[in-house]
Amino acid sequence: MDRKFYLYILRQKKYTLLAMKRLLGEDQIRKKVGRLAGQISRDFAGKEVLLVGVLKGAFIFMADLARKMTPPVKMDFVRLASYGAGTVSSGKVRITKDLETSVKGKDVLIVEDIIDTGVTLEYLSRRLKARRPRSLKTVTLLDKPSRRKVRFQADYVGFAIEDHFVVGYGLDCNEEFRNLSGIYVLK
Ligand code: PRP
Repeated sequence: MDRKFYLYILRQKKYTLLAMKRLLGEDQIRKKVGRLAGQISRDFAGKEVLLVGVLKGAFIFMADLARKMTPPVKMDFVRLASYGAGTVSSGKVRITKDLETSVKGKDVLIVEDIIDTGVTLEYLSRRLKARRPRSLKTVTLLDKPSRRKVRFQADYVGFAIEDHFVVGYGLDCNEEFRNLSGIYVLK
């Protein structure tokens, strides 16, 4: 767990040295996803679930979760963006790619890779609730509770983590590293 991986990454014709420390290995993630899928499957037994994946980060988690679920599942995706550029969120969010499916009267489960300030999911769940689903719940693989700026609690949480910058298993740094099988802290 404490091993650091040093990577030379070619970026814009220059090599950059990055230190990565493994936070969660492939096995740990697989077991957790299996447990979450089991719990969700029991809670949604006898219902059809509409999974709403939040692009892009959630796509790998959603693919693994969906394949472990036993109730019938349908899938759709949304993409959101914060207003303004930069690393500090302005706290204002908009939908840049909306659902292609109506959620009205359906049992909806939002699937997210990570909750940080909570701004994205607070906004998305408020917008989706207004479309009158029968039920609306949220699952996140990772949660950083210490970073919250708005009140938001997911119904299902894989791992609560400290305030590290994490990549892998869907999470990126400038679009890199989404395809790593584990989750790594990037220094
Ligand atoms: C990440 C993550 C969540 C959001 C959480 O997405 O996937 O959607 O940030 O942050 P918040 O709780 O502070 O709102 P990101 O904007 O990095 O886009 P990506 O999923 O396409 O990488």
